[in-house]
Amino acid sequence: MFIKNRYQLMKKIEIKGTSSSSIFIGESYKNINQYINRENIVVITDNNLFEIYREFLNNYKTIVIKTGESNKTLDTVRKIYNQLVTINADRSWFIVGFGGGIVCDITGYVATTYMRGLDFGFVSTTLLSQVDASTGGKNGVNFMGYKNMIGTFSQPEFVICDPYTLDTLSDDEFNNGLAEIIKHALIASDDIFEYLGKNRNTILNRNKSSIVHLVYESIKIKSAIVNIDEKEQGERRKLNFGHTIGHAIEVIEGISHGNAIAIGMVMAINLSVINNYLSISDANKCIRLIESYNLPISTSANADKLHEKISMDKKREGEKINFILLNRIGNAIIKDIKPEIIINNVSKLIKS
Ligand SMILES: NC(=O)c1ccc[n+]([C@@H]2O[C@H](COP(=O)([O-])OP(=O)(O)OC[C@H]3O[C@@H](n4cnc5c(N)ncnc54)[C@H](O)[C@@H]3O)[C@@H](O)[C@H]2O)c1
Ligand SMILES: [Zn+2]
Repeated sequence: MFIKNRYQLMKKIEIKGTSSSSIFIGESYKNINQYINRENIVVITDNNLFEIYREFLNNYKTIVIKTGESNKTLDTVRKIYNQLVTINADRSWFIVGFGGGIVCDITGYVATTYMRGLDFGFVSTTLLSQVDASTGGKNGVNFMGYKNMIGTFSQPEFVICDPYTLDTLSDDEFNNGLAEIIKHALIASDDIFEYLGKNRNTILNRNKSSIVHLVYESIKIKSAIVNIDEKEQGERRKLNFGHTIGHAIEVIEGISHGNAIAIGMVMAINLSVINNYLSISDANKCIRLIESYNLPISTSANADKLHEKISMDKKREGEKINFILLNRIGNAIIKDIKPEIIINNVSKLIKS
């Protein structure tokens, strides 16, 4: 049942890049037609969401993909192209991605390549995709074992972030988004850091106004960074805070993205202290916050495997690793650090 004014919370952010995008936080997914001025709409979603939102999605032509990272491939893209051809979709059609980061990344890629590009928008249904994946114009698929190897830069016309869709997310999926919100706070906002500290219980209970506030502030941070550096030449790298080591741990340990980057952030915080950029007391505050959100702060990952994976990533990026450190809570700095220094220090942080 709809509560009459449950969406009074709505906030809007305009993103200006090579193309512009409007993000509506606190808007209902049921209002998508208000944002689409087309006769023909096709919705791309995944199996899980199709089950949950079947009644609503039955109002649209729908293409349903399988869930999971292993289906974020060109093969899935090809199957979607097939279905678009079968339903005679042309450039006058509008494509909506209705789902988490995987659905949005694939939808963006399909929409920018099918017939050289159709207009598209997202209903973002995971906390991670609301605060991260659906802002910034990156889309694409994995290829030959490499994540997001094939893709384009292109903004959706709109993104709807409806906090009520998050009610059905598992705790693990919710935590993935929280880890990215904590990342945004650590690299760019001591205000959000404080808010996260003071409102832990309401946030973990998925209180709608707290979520709208956090999603709004998180997107503001990400979009401000992306506006300066859409193609990731400099400033945008700050968004990789916790991700160099985190990604290696995610692959080796097979743990969730949120858990892995939580550990990656703790390691980057420790490296910030070791390199004399961050005080020990600030580092402890950061680590305590991460822990208070039920995220892990250490790993027992095999050190040799971790070295190997970090070195492999380094080879892909060139000689140096642009490593993201903190010099205070709410401010990140980009430093070239020799991989040996990262690897030596990371070894000290692994649980024996
Ligand atoms: N484009 C970018 O800038 C960017 C940034 C970060 C991450 N990503 C990508 O995002 C992907 C991860 O995103 P994700 O965590 O949202 O993954 P996802 O799309 O796989 O969603 C996670 C799981 O939650 C389910 N789900 C989604 N919404 C739900 C809901 N409301 N209720 C119940 N279940 C729901 C999905 O079916 C899926 O099983 C990765 O592929 C990553 O590469 C992209
Ligand atoms: Zn991430």
